[in-house]
Amino acid sequence: MKSIQADTYLIHFQEEAYKELNDLIVKKKYSTLFILVDENTFEHCYPNFMSNLETDKAIEVIEIESGEINKNIDTCVGVWNAITELGADRKSLIITLGGGVISDLGGFVASTYKRGIDFVNVPTTLLSMVDASVGGKTGIDLGVLKNQIGLFSNPELVLIDSNFLTTLSDKEIKSGVAEIIKYGLTCDIKLFDDVMYVKDLVYSDLIYKSICIKNKIVLQDPKENSLRKVLNFGHTIGHAIESFYLESDDKNNLTHGEAIAIGMICESYISYKLLEFPEQNLSKIKETILSIYNKIHLLKQDFSSILDLLKHDKKNINGQINFVLLKDIESHKLDCAVDTELIIESLNFYNS
Ligand code: GLY
Repeated sequence: MKSIQADTYLIHFQEEAYKELNDLIVKKKYSTLFILVDENTFEHCYPNFMSNLETDKAIEVIEIESGEINKNIDTCVGVWNAITELGADRKSLIITLGGGVISDLGGFVASTYKRGIDFVNVPTTLLSMVDASVGGKTGIDLGVLKNQIGLFSNPELVLIDSNFLTTLSDKEIKSGVAEIIKYGLTCDIKLFDDVMYVKDLVYSDLIYKSICIKNKIVLQDPKENSLRKVLNFGHTIGHAIESFYLESDDKNNLTHGEAIAIGMICESYISYKLLEFPEQNLSKIKETILSIYNKIHLLKQDFSSILDLLKHDKKNINGQINFVLLKDIESHKLDCAVDTELIIESLNFYNS
């Protein structure tokens, strides 16, 4: 698979990617390699990764606990302390081996340590392959508010090895599928249709197409001043629902994809109401998404907490909740103001 040129770095695939990483380590003369893992990627991905790494550099493994709940400043302090004790210097390299929590947090830790050291993303989940590891966003959550603290900072390269997908549960795969659906709805109807037949398709094709779409958008608007906001379709309501489930002790957490899938149904409904998004496409989206994800019943008594969380969305300006909406599949409108009644109506539409 042909490497993809991103802003200041390349995204490499399969065996070729390991060769590129090995070459980078020699070329940049790194002092120490710190490999950031969680308990799952240490057990299931690290052995395979190491068998492809060819280097005589010192290697240190830094393990953090898995889960969005740990994507916070305390975990960063733990990693900064650990690498400091292990003698990290400005020629150290952090390799993030994991899902979105690992790449977001690891990129943030690297970009702020001694004013910034290099990092490489090795995504091991479908979600991080198609989204988090590409595009230069790094960061952590503030309480349950997602990605409130962070900076744009590019990795030295991204290594995509779809063999890591064999280590994932069906639930984790589906979490990544939601982002592929998002790319389909906003940019490529064919990709949306392909998701339905994903079992017969090779995931690596969908990953490649998704990264190409994201990269094209990020190249035009790296700091999310305008066009990149399209990548937030489904995420305004989705993030609020994800945060709500994260902070509710009596509810099981939703995966990012499960929450975004709900968000895409709600935001398609709002698009239908405000922008005349075609009704038959709204039905198709709801049907497709509910054929992949279990229906979650959102309780009416929880709506006000979800609305409170929406007020913290990073796209809001002057307290106005701003959405990316669809005029049709592949046709969007940015910065749409939506009042709370319609948001509630959309949650009811999801439930119906
Ligand atoms: N996850 C959306 C973006 O990277 O812009």
